[in-house]
Amino acid sequence: MAESSKEEGAVCVTGGSGFIGSWLVHLLLQRGYTVHATVKDLKDEKETKHLEALEGAESRLCLFQIDLLDYDSLMAAINRTIGVFHLASPCIVDKVEDPERELLDPAIKGTINVLKAAKECGVRRVVVTSSISAIIPSRYWPADVIKGEDCWTDVDYCKQKGIWYPASKTLAEKAAWEFAKENGLDVVVVNPGTVMGPIFPPTINASMLMLLRLLQGCTEIYEDYFMGSVHVKDVALAHILVYENLSASGRHLCVEAISHYGDFAAKVAELYPEYKVPRFPKDTQPGLLRAKNASKKLIDMGLQFISMEQIIRDSIESLKSKGYIS
Ligand SMILES: NC(=O)c1ccc[n+]([C@@H]2O[C@H](COP(=O)([O-])OP(=O)(O)OC[C@H]3O[C@@H](n4cnc5c(N)ncnc54)[C@H](OP(=O)(O)O)[C@@H]3O)[C@@H](O)[C@H]2O)c1
Repeated sequence: MAESSKEEGAVCVTGGSGFIGSWLVHLLLQRGYTVHATVKDLKDEKETKHLEALEGAESRLCLFQIDLLDYDSLMAAINRTIGVFHLASPCIVDKVEDPERELLDPAIKGTINVLKAAKECGVRRVVVTSSISAIIPSRYWPADVIKGEDCWTDVDYCKQKGIWYPASKTLAEKAAWEFAKENGLDVVVVNPGTVMGPIFPPTINASMLMLLRLLQGCTEIYEDYFMGSVHVKDVALAHILVYENLSASGRHLCVEAISHYGDFAAKVAELYPEYKVPRFPKDTQPGLLRAKNASKKLIDMGLQFISMEQIIRDSIESLKSKGYIS
């Protein structure tokens, strides 16, 4: 692995060890970038080995240990880079005991720490990974208007229902926009849907776990969490597109199409009848209008989204090859 990165144009990827992060690191290395990738524990091979094995890692990848609440650790990772992709954030959709500590603090304070460090290091652009969870649940959105970049999650509803992941992503994205405005930092946001596809890390993340559970017969409909699926490669590409395209600005919805979880589950059942996929009602996301080409901003930048069918095939084949299913 590279000792340090003095090359022009190095970029930092926080959460580089994760499901999306490792795909982004892979594509950045492929494009010739020098990458500072952050992990939570440098001594844990489960976080480092799959990154060190990537093509180009030996000469252009530096790993940094960070804690999102430790500003100095972030400064060390971001120093000497000109661009930051901020992906690190706890991704827990199951019930949490202590929302402040487990979700809100690392998401919100972590984002502010990353942006402060980026500002101090003279970074030119920061791409923040938000989510469709900062767009839905949004109960007061007009019933006849397709949800998109203008729509924001209703945080009061999340608090009432105790669904803390969407609250954490919404408050973190809002904090990022406020920081960018107050400090004149160039920030661009990507809002991915439910991300699936081939897995690099040896562990499984929350969205691939959703698919695994579906294949095992889980009947949860993710009423407040689902707005469409997207291939992990497209999400990584979207990050690079909005980073490199200097005219990119604002939020970028990143889904193959706006769809219901029931549509997704029905496609899984059709393609893989050998698994016990439950049948769901047609509408699992009440009031969510379906829409093809919903991610217009990214499509206009040249992103051609991989189809739902291919997302499912690539994801299930990866789950098989990793031994999660047979
Ligand atoms: N997967 C989806 O469907 C989806 C959809 C929309 C948005 N997103 C967003 O995309 C980003 C990446 O998610 P992912 O799906 O790739 O999940 P993931 O595999 O769980 O990755 C999350 C990454 O963040 C790191 N992280 C979490 N808390 C941290 C902390 N306190 N300090 C330092 N690092 C920390 C994790 O490190 P460890 O591995 O060491 O825990 C991991 O590398 C997140 O911001 C998530 O909200 C995901």
